[in-house]
Amino acid sequence: MIMPVILSGGSGTRLWPLSRALYPKQLLPLFGDKTMLQDTVLRVETIDGVGPVTCVCNDEHRFLVAEQLRQIGADEEAIILEPVGRNTAPAAAVAALMLADKHPGSLMLVMPADHVILDRQAFAEAIESGRQAAEDGNLVTFGIVPNEPETGYGYIRSVAGSEKAARPVAEFVEKPSRERAESYLASGDYFWNSGMFLFRPEVYLAELEVNAPEMLAACRAAVEKARIDLDFLRLDLEAFKACPSDSIDYAVMEKTTKAMVVPMDAGWNDVGAWSSLWEVQERDPQGNVMRGDVLAHDVQNSYLHSTSRLVAAVGLENHIVVETCDAVLVASKDRVQEVKAIVEQLHLEA
Ligand code: GDD
Ligand code: MG
Repeated sequence: MIMPVILSGGSGTRLWPLSRALYPKQLLPLFGDKTMLQDTVLRVETIDGVGPVTCVCNDEHRFLVAEQLRQIGADEEAIILEPVGRNTAPAAAVAALMLADKHPGSLMLVMPADHVILDRQAFAEAIESGRQAAEDGNLVTFGIVPNEPETGYGYIRSVAGSEKAARPVAEFVEKPSRERAESYLASGDYFWNSGMFLFRPEVYLAELEVNAPEMLAACRAAVEKARIDLDFLRLDLEAFKACPSDSIDYAVMEKTTKAMVVPMDAGWNDVGAWSSLWEVQERDPQGNVMRGDVLAHDVQNSYLHSTSRLVAAVGLENHIVVETCDAVLVASKDRVQEVKAIVEQLHLEA
């Protein structure tokens, strides 16, 4: 059985002002009428032999997460609450400890809660292609053919293989420099890491034992001392606080010799910034995406989003305008990554 584990701990700062610390992007209906978390849960239902979902999230988001799962009638295994964020490696570790104990012999499919995948069928097929390799004790990643030298992703070089099958990873480089990313792209030998992983929980835990033993010990203590609170599994604060913070990519994937990659062509987008939302949605003949109460005159290739008032735009090109009741963002579409700088300024002022 494949047990889905959804990581929902990020704050999505580059999608400010809609995405906020208390209401991050994965809990918003940014794309269609479901939230990204709900889309993630509904997507896994296309996989054969899939079990109930486990969600690992920040304590502060527990009621939002529980309510959103309930709204779609999700089949739930557990909602694990982190008292503090320690990045993705510990988040996956606590789920692995729980699943290894309760569902021995199962696989776990780790997925971020904040991705768009347009083609669910192709997604399910890629997971199926990775199943055997994961059963055999490998850490399976899903590779996306890159189209730009993005430095926010992991890069995977694989040994050549038949088109859809899992093949061994020769090199995994998390967030390379611009220069390196450019050379990887030019070589044509690299995939982007999609951020999803399929493996046996025991195999992941054994990798942590070798590569991050302190992290594993802290996670083990946090699970052993966890408390059941309503429908939630609340990790022990002191134990989890003592856990080193690191991502799966740095802590395990760059180091392991058991990585494999399955190519995935499923309309994947990690919706890292406002420009991605413009990219993945249907645009009108002028190339605009307009959401909410919006009027445009002579506007091209822009994203206009209103949540509480009428927004009107005249003579814009390649712009992002996002209105909320207490903040409005106006940005050049090619500079939306820098929204992060605004959020940092806000934190400094707070
Ligand atoms: N529960 C929990 N706790 N979830 C977390 C935490 C945490 O402390 N930190 C991050 N997450 C969640 C985020 O919400 C997101 O859904 C997912 O884990 C991945 O974390 P990111 O912080 O978004 O990672 P990234 O985008 O920098 O890099 C990863 O994803 C890329 C593709 O989008 C890596 O796996 C890269 O290699 C990959 O290319
Ligand atoms: Mg991300």
